[in-house]
Amino acid sequence: MIQQFNFSYRLIPTIQDLPKQEQVLVNAANAALARAYAPYSKFQVGASVLLKSGLIIEGNNQENIAYPSGLCAERVALFYAGANHPNDPILKICIVAKGDLTSSDSYVSPCGPCRQVMLESASRQTEPIEVLLVQKSGEVLLLDSVQNLLPFGFTK
Ligand code: THU
Repeated sequence: MIQQFNFSYRLIPTIQDLPKQEQVLVNAANAALARAYAPYSKFQVGASVLLKSGLIIEGNNQENIAYPSGLCAERVALFYAGANHPNDPILKICIVAKGDLTSSDSYVSPCGPCRQVMLESASRQTEPIEVLLVQKSGEVLLLDSVQNLLPFGFTK
């Protein structure tokens, strides 16, 4: 029997078309991107996380000369939220990226391990985590939940 996994996502033409609160989140991700430590890949990533209290956590990629020792922007932000605000649910995560590592028409989208961490963050709360992926074109791809990014994810 053939089964299907389907999900919908929204494509917002520009950042200005987002509600004000989400524009603030995009600005926070861009500010974080500007502080990324990425001397090896020269690919800067910024992530911002909106908590239910209204607090915004910012993270960026942190690289290391021993390459695997670095960490992605999404996990820096999510682990900071988990470390310092474990009881403040995560409502949204926004991701921006800049650099030549990926082609201009490829999607800005989190890597597999970051999706796995997002899934576990979502499993610790009842609220779904909305994902905003700011594309190089300026379009924003909106997903209602992180589960859509990792079908058949490894969960408890
Ligand atoms: N990177 C992120 O920060 N997030 C992702 O989802 C993908 C990749 C970082 C890791 C590394 O510092 C650089 O981008 C190049 O892979």
